[in-house]
Amino acid sequence: MIHDFIYDIPVRVYFGKDQLSNLGPELKKWGKRVLLTYGGGSIKRIGLYDKVLKEIKEAGLEVHELSGIEPNPRIASVRKGAQMCKDLKIDVLLAVGGGSTIDATKFMAAGALVDFDPWDFFDMKKRVPVEKALPIVSILTLSATGSEMDCGGVISNPETNDKIGCMCPPMLPKASFLDPTNTYTVSPYQTACGAADMLSHIFEVYFIMDQDLYMLDCFMEGLMKTIIKYAPVAMKEPENYEARANLMWTSSWAINGFIDGGKRQAWSCHPMEHQLSAYYDITHGLGLAILTPRWMEYCLDETTVSKFRQFGVNVFGIDSSLAPMDIARKAIKLLGDFLFGTLGLKSTLTDLGIDSTHFAEMADKAVNGGTLPGFKPLVKKDVEAIYSMCLKD
Ligand code: NZQ
Ligand code: ZN
Repeated sequence: MIHDFIYDIPVRVYFGKDQLSNLGPELKKWGKRVLLTYGGGSIKRIGLYDKVLKEIKEAGLEVHELSGIEPNPRIASVRKGAQMCKDLKIDVLLAVGGGSTIDATKFMAAGALVDFDPWDFFDMKKRVPVEKALPIVSILTLSATGSEMDCGGVISNPETNDKIGCMCPPMLPKASFLDPTNTYTVSPYQTACGAADMLSHIFEVYFIMDQDLYMLDCFMEGLMKTIIKYAPVAMKEPENYEARANLMWTSSWAINGFIDGGKRQAWSCHPMEHQLSAYYDITHGLGLAILTPRWMEYCLDETTVSKFRQFGVNVFGIDSSLAPMDIARKAIKLLGDFLFGTLGLKSTLTDLGIDSTHFAEMADKAVNGGTLPGFKPLVKKDVEAIYSMCLKD
C-alpha cells in the first residue's frame, strides 16, 4: 500500500553562478533590517562576504552581523542571535555558510519570537515546538546537509553533551541561493563528509521495508549514483562546475521532503551519529560514514536482504543473477570501499581516538530510552553493538 502524503516545499531556489543580483529584492520582500549570520570566516576568504554586503547595501537595507557560528553549532550562538534579533528589531535573517550556520540561524529566527530559552525547543523533557519564526534566506557554501531546503536543524549543548535535531515548518528558508562556485574552496575532506551525509539522508529513507513508490526508489538511486560519480571528481578538481553543481542540487533533494512521499519515517544512523558529535565534536558526515556500513551489516538478514539486493544491483551494478545475500554483502563492501577508499575517510572510531567509554550512555540517548523504529528496530544494546563494530575494520 502506498501511503497518502502532502507535497509542499515552498523554498524559492536561485540556482547558478549569476543569481546574487536577486538577493536584495528577495530580502526586501521580508523587511528592512537584516541579520547576516556566518561561521568562522570562510565567506570572507572566498570573497562572498563583500559581494553579499554590496547587494544588501545597494538594496538600501540595514545590516547587522553575527559571526563565529561553530561547526556543530552551539546553543550559546543561538541564544546570542535570538537576543540580537529582539534588540535590533530584525526583520529577516540571512545565513551565509554551511549547514551549521543555516541551522543555528533557523533557531535564532525562532528564538527571536519567544520569551523562553531556545534550548526549550530541544530539551527532551520540554520539546516546545517551533510555532513561528522570522523569515530566513540562505546562501549555501557547502553541499551536505540540505538545510537550505528543509525546515530542520541540529544544535549542540556542550554542558549536557547533547546534540538534538528538530524539524518545524516555520523555519523553512523563504529562499536559498545555490551557487556551485561558492563551494569551490570546500576542502576534499569536507567534500567527502558532505557526500557521506547526503548518502545517509537518502539511505535513511530508502532502507525502509514499506511498500514504496517505485518512482521514488528510482529517484533515490539516481541521487546516490550522482554522489558516487561526482564527489571524487569534486575532490580532485575542486573547480569542476559540473561536479559541484550536481552535488549541490543533490544535497537539497536528498532531504527536502520529496523522497519521503508516502514513506514511514524512521531514521537510524542520524540519531546514532548525533551522539558521536555531541560527545566528541566530530564532523557529522565522518561519523555517518563510519556508522553506515556497520549499521547495514547489523540490519542484514533474510527479512531485509531484498532491499540491499535492490541497492547493490541498481546503484553499484552488481550482477543480478548472484544470490541475494551475496549481492547484499558485496553492496555493503562496495559502499565501504567508496567511503574509506575513494573518499579517503577514516574508517574506524579508533582512528578518531574514540573508545567505548561512553557507548552505553550514548546508545541510551540515541534510542531516547526506547527503540529506534527504523529499517530494523534498534534498542540500546543494538546501538551499543553497532558502536562497538565501529572500533575496528
Ligand atoms: O565556519 P566557516 O569558516 O564557514 O568554515 C566551515 C566549517 O569549518 C567550512 N566551510 C563552509 N563552506 C566553506 C567552508 N570552507 C571553505 N569553503 C567553503 N565554501 O566547512 C566547515 C564545516 O561547515 P559546517 O557548516 O559545519 O558543515 P555542514 O554543512 O556539513 O553542516 C554540518 C551541521 O549540519 C547538521 C550537522 O549535524 C552539523 O551540525 N545537519 C543538519 C541537517 C539539517 N538541517 O537538516 C541535517 C544533517 O543530517 C545534519 O545533522
Ligand atoms: Zn545528515
